Amino acid sequence: MKHFNITFKPDDRRISIHAGAMLLEAAGQAGIILNAVCGGKGTCKKCMVNLAPDGRAVLACLYRIDSDLTVTIPPSSRLFEHKILTEGITPQTEIRPDIYEKYPAGKILGVAVDIGTTTVVAKLIDMTDGKILAIEAELNPQTRFGDDSISRINYAQTDAKLTELHKIIIDCINGLTAKLCSRASIDAEQIYEMCVVGNTTMNHIFLKLPVVQLGQAPYKAFSLDAKDLSPEKIALQMNHTGNVHTVENIAGFVGSDTTAVALAVDISSANEMTLVVDIGTNGEIVLGNKDKLCAASCAAGPAFEGARISSGSRAVDGAIEAVVINDGDIDLDVIGNCPPRSICGSGLIDAVAVLLDLGVIDPTGRFTKPNELSPAIAARLIQQDNQPAFCLYRAANVSERSLFLTQKDIRELQLAKAAIRAGIKLLQKKAGIKDDDIKQVLLAGAFGNYIRRESALRIGLLPRIPIERIKFIGNAAASGAEMLLVSSQCRAQAKKLARKIEYLEIAHQPDFQTVFAESMSF
Ligand code: FES
Repeated sequence: MKHFNITFKPDDRRISIHAGAMLLEAAGQAGIILNAVCGGKGTCKKCMVNLAPDGRAVLACLYRIDSDLTVTIPPSSRLFEHKILTEGITPQTEIRPDIYEKYPAGKILGVAVDIGTTTVVAKLIDMTDGKILAIEAELNPQTRFGDDSISRINYAQTDAKLTELHKIIIDCINGLTAKLCSRASIDAEQIYEMCVVGNTTMNHIFLKLPVVQLGQAPYKAFSLDAKDLSPEKIALQMNHTGNVHTVENIAGFVGSDTTAVALAVDISSANEMTLVVDIGTNGEIVLGNKDKLCAASCAAGPAFEGARISSGSRAVDGAIEAVVINDGDIDLDVIGNCPPRSICGSGLIDAVAVLLDLGVIDPTGRFTKPNELSPAIAARLIQQDNQPAFCLYRAANVSERSLFLTQKDIRELQLAKAAIRAGIKLLQKKAGIKDDDIKQVLLAGAFGNYIRRESALRIGLLPRIPIERIKFIGNAAASGAEMLLVSSQCRAQAKKLARKIEYLEIAHQPDFQTVFAESMSF
């Protein structure tokens, strides 16, 4: 199948995508979240973009790609721009940059940080107008102690080990701050505020609070409260007269990052039943509307980040990010438009959806031997160590490596998706809500916007609802952190919100095992 190069301006992001893909999908692959209020039905007209050379305006959700393109995205078509807005849920949330007023006159900058289990994102913000001046992200260097929160908790059992992990994250944030400063040509002394969000484990390690109790039932946080502290106290490199703000956690396994997401999408004003799913190593789910909200956390494991998958990786250059059926064979979209070297989470979800459609795996996830396979697909079914596997890519020369999807890879994905789906089902049960009652699903997480909705539905990751109800909101935790950085009103709102959200410990639900087992099937 033909592939085309799409360049997005003013971001200057370039991706390669298969012919026939929608421009909205291409923007998602480039990490740009458009304001697709109607979910891509072509009715809200919010996803308008301009095509070079003549600036012709088209709706990204209705534009099928059939050539190379340069696309300019107007600020009004972005989901998160200046004002963090969540149209479709409520009108815009206005940022009031009031916090900077207490600092001396001049340029007052702030940094919003989202500490993920896997990735740390930092944004340099002008406190006076909320504008983003620079963004940096890095792998969380704590991953060398294990790829999920439990392994960090297990490591930080003594004061010395906790201090070690704490120092690692502080060094990482100082490194990101230094990069932000050099990118924006500013001095770290101009940074007066920092707002940090993360899951409860990350929050505790950042604050050097004990985490031992997070690893044992009833999995209680040492503290759920927001904190304000002096940067000197934890050796953060910024103006020493400034302030570091951390945000309320909701429970032991639902942290301030979820509070930030809930704030960014303003779920507590939503009229319609809304499901927010933040897909990461830990999947956090919030379900509800303005009347009632509940949340849960699911230990999805790092399969969606490509870990524990034989050819898996994060969404880096060379990673297969999409798999589609084409002309009796499969076709791949690869990040960086180079020969594939690995497969990332979105590619994995696609690949499994494709194998299900082809009948190569059955609903239990087992490889089968369907009779009616095209020769090209049949040739991809191989045996590896006496186990069936599917060849995604055959190395063209010695410098490349062939990529396979094994039975074990499919099991890993099944476990990850079952964890998320079981969490959703148990929250639905608690709220007395059927699939069809959910009027919108907001997919958050750095990785959420790369997933193809059809594939997420096909593998049963999400409730059975019409596809247009599923929307992408990108890294909403980082967007929430931005709001919380600049606005004391948002900080007060977050406090109320975190207490309003009721936490459900899903692993303690009597029918957890049954629901989890049911959720394994595709
Ligand atoms: Fe394109 Fe609504 S018109 S998303």
